[in-house]
Formats: sequence, C-alpha cells, structure tokens
Amino acid sequence: MRFEIWSKGVATLEVDCLVVGVFEEGELTAHARSVDEAAGGRLKKLLSRGDFSGRAAETLLVGDLPGLAASRVLLTGLGTRKAFGRKPWRKAWAAAVGALAKTGIASAAAALERPDTEALDDYYYGRAVAEIASTGLYRVNDLKTGKKPRPAALRRVLAGPAAKGSTQALERGLAHGAAIAEAAKVQRDLANLPGNVCTPRHLAEQARALARGHRSLSVRVLDEQAIKREKMGCLLAVAQGSSEPPRLVVLQHKGAKAGAPPVVLVGKGVTFDSGGISIKPSAEMDEMKYDMSGAAAVIAALSLVAQLRAPLNVIGIVAAVENMPDGKAVKPGDIVTSASGQSVEILNTDAEGRLILCDALHYARRFKPAALVDLATLTGACVIALGHHHSGVLGNDEALIRELIEAGVRADDRAWQLPLTEEYAEQLKSNFADFANIGGRDGGTITAAAFLGKFTQGMPWAHLDIAGTAWQGGAHKGSTGRPTPLLADFLIRRAGL
Ligand code: BES
Ligand code: MN
Ligand code: ZN
Repeated sequence: MRFEIWSKGVATLEVDCLVVGVFEEGELTAHARSVDEAAGGRLKKLLSRGDFSGRAAETLLVGDLPGLAASRVLLTGLGTRKAFGRKPWRKAWAAAVGALAKTGIASAAAALERPDTEALDDYYYGRAVAEIASTGLYRVNDLKTGKKPRPAALRRVLAGPAAKGSTQALERGLAHGAAIAEAAKVQRDLANLPGNVCTPRHLAEQARALARGHRSLSVRVLDEQAIKREKMGCLLAVAQGSSEPPRLVVLQHKGAKAGAPPVVLVGKGVTFDSGGISIKPSAEMDEMKYDMSGAAAVIAALSLVAQLRAPLNVIGIVAAVENMPDGKAVKPGDIVTSASGQSVEILNTDAEGRLILCDALHYARRFKPAALVDLATLTGACVIALGHHHSGVLGNDEALIRELIEAGVRADDRAWQLPLTEEYAEQLKSNFADFANIGGRDGGTITAAAFLGKFTQGMPWAHLDIAGTAWQGGAHKGSTGRPTPLLADFLIRRAGL
C-alpha cells in the first residue's frame, strides 16, 4: 500500500474514490459540501430522499457524480456532530476501508472531517489513516482449500490536508502507521496459526528468518540442551510433558551504541496450553493456540524497530513451549528450581505462563535493561477484571507503567493498571518450597504478577497481561494484533523517532 498526502480542493483529486463524511441528520461536512457544490447539489438531493442518514459507520458508494475528477464518492456516516472526535473518526475510517475493500477501487482519498488537532494531530492523524487502512485489508492466513476471496484492489491512499503549514509530521505519521500495521500483521499471522504448525521450533525459525532480513538484527536460539545449561528448571518443567522441544529465542536489534542499556521485551510463547495435568475443560480449548501472542508481539516489535531503524537497543526474549499432559509431564505438588535458584512448588500445571516467564525474566538480567517489559496471555482473571478493552499492566516501576499506559492511550490500544502492592505475594506461600506457582482465585492477575515480581527485583519492570485483548472470538475470530500498537508507540518514543 502506498500513502500520499492531498492538499488541494477535493473536487480536483484524481483518485478512484473520495471518502467524505456526513453527520447524522444528514449534515454535510465541509469536504462533502465541496463535493455537493461541484456536483450540482446531487448529494443534498440524495440525502433529502432519505437514502443516507449519516449514522456512525454507515457507508454508501455513489458513482459518476458530475464535476469531480474522482469517479466515485463514498459517503461515510460520522454519527452526531456533538459526539464527534477521535474515536468516531477511527470507526468511520475503518468502516470506509471495509467498504472500499469490497470494491475494485484502487486509490482513495480520506476526506472525512478531521477531528480537532488536539485529539489527533498531524502525526497521529497520518498514523491512524495508514494503520487503519492497512489493518482493514488484513486477511487471515487460513488453510481453507477451494476458492480464495479476491484480494482487495486498494493500493494507494491519500490523507489530507495537513493542519499545519508543513506536511512533514503527516508524512512521518503515514510511514509509522504503515510500519505498525505491518508489525501487527507479523503478530497476527503467527498467532492465527494452529498449534500443530506454530510450535516452539516454528517460532524460533520465524525469528531466525526475520533476523536474516535485517542487518540490525541478530538472533540466538537456545535449544533444550542450552536451556538445561542455563538451569531453567521452571521452563523445562512446563515443556517436559510435550513431545515438542522448548526453545528460548533471543532477538537483538542494535540501533544505538554498544554500551547503551537496552529495552528488553519478554514474550510468553505457549504454542498450545492444554493446562497440562491440571487439564482445561474442552470448551473453547482451541483458543489456547493464541497463548503465544506475547511471543508473537515481541517478534513483531523487533521487526518494527528493525524496519524503522530505531536508534535504540532492543532485545526480545521469547520463551516457547507447549503445555501438555503426559506420563512424563510435571504434576501438581512437584517442586522445581528456577534459573534464579529459587524453588517453586507447582500446585497447578495450568499456571505455566509464569513458570516460563520467570526463567526468561531472569535471563534478561544479564542485559542490564533500561526497561524490562513482559507480554503474556497470563490469566483468565484479567479477562474477568478488564474484559476485552484494556490490557492489564502491573510492575515495580511506576514511571515505566505510566509510560506504557500513555503509549496505549495515544495508540488507541489501552492498558489499565492493577495494584501490585506487597500483600499479594503472601498468597503464594508454600510449606515446601520458596513459594507456590498459584495464589488462589482472588486477585488472580495480581498474584501472577507478584510471582513474576520475585524474579525482577532491581530491574525496572512492567508486565502486560494481554489475555483479554490479544485475540477475539465470534464472527471475526482471530488475533487482534494487540498490544503491538501500544508497544510501537512506546518504542518509537523511546527511540525519539
Ligand atoms: N493461558 C492461560 C490464561 C488464559 C485463560 C488466557 C483464558 C486467556 C483466556 C493461563 O496459562 C492459565 O491457564 N491461567 C490460569 C491460572 C490459574 C491456574 C491460576 C487461569 O487463568 O485460569
Ligand atoms: Mn495455563
Ligand atoms: Zn497459558
């Protein structure tokens, strides 16, 4: 997809389609009025007949209006003028892209009403135009045989006009938005794959392939032997019930000078989570193929910083295992020793994410991270607490947590903080080991984070629980690509891009 900027009158834009906004009750936006005037009042006539109401996300394609260089106009509902802002604009543009994707339209100009620049400045406007356009054309890497749907024709999208005199910020926004959508696609393609294809070895192979494509990236893959040498007893305990061997992948982007402390990202890569001996109920168990979404987001983030040549050192650590029941599987009551030396009583083998993350987080210590962020579909409790709208964020560094929350707000990929105060760790008490891997039902997201907190002391650390946000069910079942937009904003800011 190519992105450009338009600035002159909409009637003269040479594109296949002009996308213009109409408020509810049929009120034309400024650009829609220009179209209407050039076309001799045809839009007003159409509205007075009651053919278009301007309700949020309603669209109507109108062909061959006179007086326009564009061959078509896509009317797009913006909802009420009173409620108009960034969110309704995003929804309208997404709806417009959805409508365009079903047609043979190859080039389109976004000429909806722009929300005021406080809600969406030139940079974020450009970013959202590009991100939403690219994301709207995403198709699942499905394994259906037979006739494939026709790929969308849309190849060229124009955003405009720049609010400020210069188009620089808008251009930068378009470039970043396209890159973020591409990264989100990396995450979604990996997460949508079934567990029998996307194994720990597959994740490692994909990380290797990514590193081959970028000079700033290097990769190191630890196989089972190397993981044993690191004494990662918790990670190995989860992996031991599966015939798929585990992998620990370390992806490194060198964008700054060698000594500069890196941002370290750690991803949960459980390629299938059956629960192990503490087996899950069978309803919707297929969704546990997405339990590697954190790992996929880490790979996506590394692809983004490499693509943008971010002047920042970033290290991605992917802990990849499959969690299965078996004669050799770890059992409730088993006690294992983590790489940090702390012993853990595994009371529930379905609380496996924290077991692989604790060893990966300990591994991160050697890099002396400037910031350590882990991403994990860690707890069902997080879905209960926050639903599907916010990721959970917890940690030991308030400034880092705030930075992530604010990145989420700007990227429209939000996170909400839960309190990680010291009392919660008491729930992890064990009579037999340093602590247990579960802390009871109450505050399940927080006790999971408290477990991780035992391994991150002295490092500036934040944890994102993406159990409710990384994928969705229903008609559009699949990976959402979250929290890649949040992470992207965080990294772009850190890099000063
Ligand atoms: N991968 C799951 C978390 C999960 C559950 C994500 C549902 C999305 C939807 C995780 O490994 C898990 O099983 N967690 C347990 C922890 C419990 C045993 C303490 C859970 O949330 O039930
Ligand atoms: Mn589990
Ligand atoms: Zn899991």
